[in-house]
Amino acid sequence: MTTSTQWQLANEAAERYQNILTPAILGPFAKALVDFAALQPAESVIDVGCGTGAAARYAAGAVGAAGRVMGIDINAAMLEVARSLPAVYGAPIAWREANITHLPFDDNSIDVVLCAQTLQFLPEKITGLAEMRRVVKPSGRVAVSLWCPLEQSPYFYTLVETIARHIGPETAIGLKSAFNLSNGDEIYALIEAAGFEQIEMTVRQLDLPLPHLTEFIPRHISATPMAAGFNQAAPVVQQKIVWEVTEQLREYQINGRTEIPFKSHVIMCKS
Ligand SMILES: C[S@@+](CC[C@H](N)C(=O)[O-])C[C@H]1O[C@@H](n2cnc3c(N)ncnc32)[C@H](O)[C@@H]1O
Repeated sequence: MTTSTQWQLANEAAERYQNILTPAILGPFAKALVDFAALQPAESVIDVGCGTGAAARYAAGAVGAAGRVMGIDINAAMLEVARSLPAVYGAPIAWREANITHLPFDDNSIDVVLCAQTLQFLPEKITGLAEMRRVVKPSGRVAVSLWCPLEQSPYFYTLVETIARHIGPETAIGLKSAFNLSNGDEIYALIEAAGFEQIEMTVRQLDLPLPHLTEFIPRHISATPMAAGFNQAAPVVQQKIVWEVTEQLREYQINGRTEIPFKSHVIMCKS
């Protein structure tokens, strides 16, 4: 697997992830996962594959000042952005560089593990899930989000399909890889294989208001692993992609507003 399919963004791309993707798409889904986890005051929470820390920051508010939150990511650039953001009300958040497959925590020591849109990028998914299970208390829970199949989120589907057609599948894979683990039965089987006995899966659809698509699409691409392939394409090809995606999503544009449905699995795992 190449680094681009594991969503490894460097420096300015991590900033763009925070400034473009988090407010528009990933942030609302991080909040949906935190709400689903039903965090209680004073709980200890780790956000694994925290990226720039959207779920960790919502969790800090939910557990309050008596709680503990730690964001874990393998990517130093994402953590640097997370550290640079203003503090939020609630629990203090610590940020730490580590691999999900080797979490720096004792057995049975954490109340809740959050894993937002990250499990799909792990080459060793069962090992990662088993590691999350190892660190949660026997009464604890692991809450995971994973996109539903690509065609169920029309914005992502249209963008991937159009980039694959005009530039090539090797560029589109930078976004398509986020849907590598989206089949509900496959997800359930992996979680079961990692040793969890109680698994509750549901789907969250969020209808997200996106900024004007002709401006948002190139900005969004710049914050993903597709950026290099898109930048190398001729300007006329870039413009064609933006125009075609905008046209194909016209049914979601009403009175100058664009509101598009996105679908994600949210899964609660307990031992
Ligand atoms: C699509 S981003 C999601 C970030 C964040 N959870 C969110 O919802 O915005 C995936 C993140 O997983 C991280 N990641 C990928 N593999 C990892 C691993 N083995 N251990 C820790 N983090 C990992 C990447 O560095 C990236 O920050």
